[in-house]
Amino acid sequence: MCDLPRKKLCTERPPNLLPSLSGSIERQRENAGTASFGNSKNSCNVLGHLENLFTSAIKSAYPSVTNVLAQLQVSKHADYQCNDAMALAKTLKKNPREVGDNILKNVAPSPLISKLELSGPGFINITLSQNFMKQQVTNIVLNGVTPPPTTPLRVVVDFSSPNIAKEMHVGHLRSTIIGDSISRLMEFLGHDVLRLNHLGDWGTQFGMLIAHLEDRFPDFASKPPPISDLQTFYKESKKRFDEDEEFKKRAYQAVVKLQAHEPVHIKGWQEICEISKREFSKVYERLQVKIVDRGESFYQSRMEDVVKILNGGGMLEEDEGRKVMFAEGADIPLTIVKSDGGFTYDTSDMACIKHRIVEEKADWLVYVTDAGQAQHFKSLFACAKRAGIYDAKKTRIDHVTFGVVLGEDRKKFKTRSGDTVRLVDLLDEGLQRSEEKLREKERDKVLTPEEFTKAKNAVAYGCIKYADLSHDRSRDYVFSFDRMLDFRGNTAAYLLYALTRIRSIARTACVSREEIVTEAQKQPIELEHEKEWKLARALLKLPDVLVKITEDLCLHTLCEYLFEVSAVFTEFYDNCYCVEKNSEGKIVKINLNRLMLCEATAMVMEKCFAILGIDTVEKM
Ligand code: ARG
Repeated sequence: MCDLPRKKLCTERPPNLLPSLSGSIERQRENAGTASFGNSKNSCNVLGHLENLFTSAIKSAYPSVTNVLAQLQVSKHADYQCNDAMALAKTLKKNPREVGDNILKNVAPSPLISKLELSGPGFINITLSQNFMKQQVTNIVLNGVTPPPTTPLRVVVDFSSPNIAKEMHVGHLRSTIIGDSISRLMEFLGHDVLRLNHLGDWGTQFGMLIAHLEDRFPDFASKPPPISDLQTFYKESKKRFDEDEEFKKRAYQAVVKLQAHEPVHIKGWQEICEISKREFSKVYERLQVKIVDRGESFYQSRMEDVVKILNGGGMLEEDEGRKVMFAEGADIPLTIVKSDGGFTYDTSDMACIKHRIVEEKADWLVYVTDAGQAQHFKSLFACAKRAGIYDAKKTRIDHVTFGVVLGEDRKKFKTRSGDTVRLVDLLDEGLQRSEEKLREKERDKVLTPEEFTKAKNAVAYGCIKYADLSHDRSRDYVFSFDRMLDFRGNTAAYLLYALTRIRSIARTACVSREEIVTEAQKQPIELEHEKEWKLARALLKLPDVLVKITEDLCLHTLCEYLFEVSAVFTEFYDNCYCVEKNSEGKIVKINLNRLMLCEATAMVMEKCFAILGIDTVEKM
């Protein structure tokens, strides 16, 4: 396995260069180097590359300064600026302008930079090379949007993870959307991603479900039970469990038999899991989410092993009949063995983290759940560390949390009757609303029925996903079809439409993608107009945006970026003719260079949509 690039793996934002120069985290932006130039298949993360250059410059200018990490800002006077001289001068008790000058002199020559200038009290203004930028934008047209250079890692993303026999709720929807998008990003960057569905498919609730199954469908072992609504079935069995002592006893016995792997009980359990999974897969199919089922039951024998290890290591303590585990950094202990000898959610996660690190050989674990589970995971990671299973220097772990989904009344998202909203119903309503919206805009009059259906689906699922991903995931968010289907503002409806309009420019001019590519092969894109240059800079920011997301796993930055690209494109389009028409509407001139820019913009936007898991359409 590769040597672990810790620099990219730290979960916390790296500390700023100063004031403390003695910190221990030293992050280099790996590979953000010249390997990405010319015709390499990787794109260049410009900012990362520049920060590396300046970090090296500071190091050679002041070798005594360790743990340096230059951070650059977007500049009003140039493209970027480096302000690190100020803070550094303070620490070194030197003149900041002198320090700035010294750093500047130590910046290695780079094809990215056309000019470096010292200004004011010690700022260094950086102007990017036009030639370099032109070549990079042209590369997008020629080679597609390629990822920045990355060291491939084995990443396990644990997401969605609903519970068998219970309805998949909006919390699971958030986990599904966010986890899928994180996986798509990692896959694009070239990581080896294992997407896991940690289904709640084991535990005491199966006792009552099996006991109820025996009564309702006595021949379930030979004939699959025709349960159409597992949720109601669950409620019925729960009611009996709560009210009927006799039933309760049988439920407990059923659990014991299930755990002893009695064939009939295993069969009943399998039937129930199958019915549930069929329901879940309908949601995954509609959302085009790929995921591998590996529920809690998978870890049964591994739970036994891990309990032995923890017990043997003297790490478990008695607490009112339970066996619990404490660790430094765990606010609450994990319950490893219940007083009746059974295992818990904590036990399965302990066995699971070991399996993922040791057997799956993961370099990076990602868990996507609601923020309500923060304490559970904090304790889990602390205990895994204490048990010697997890070492933060070797494995990166992120608990990706998210807030609650609220209804338009700002209360927890529920149906009118107060029930949890079924996801399939929610998706159906999305489709219906999307159709209404498109009809209202009279799209049915211009699109063929096939195009209309495509647009309807893309808008419905796209809007639901985008509304979730465009909000800072740590906050609660208000679920509103009206808002997400608005054709103005930062919504999928608007952005998908903006993309179709960009795509239609070349189409109206009857210029094919092949012709645009041929043109790009002949000569790089020209960036003469100020707005062309601005658009190019925006397009080339994508690799940096993606690298930043790998640090905090906050996808709303990608949505903000997508919105920014569409806004900058509009500015360009309003100021620069791509296709000129005469008073009769006849095309008199086609600017192929600008059509190349349109093509590059569309490709960047499509890549963003792909990472967000949103389908795009040619027409809508
Ligand atoms: N099934 C759990 C729930 O619905 C989520 C599981 C998350 N993953 C894990 N490894 N604990 O809340």
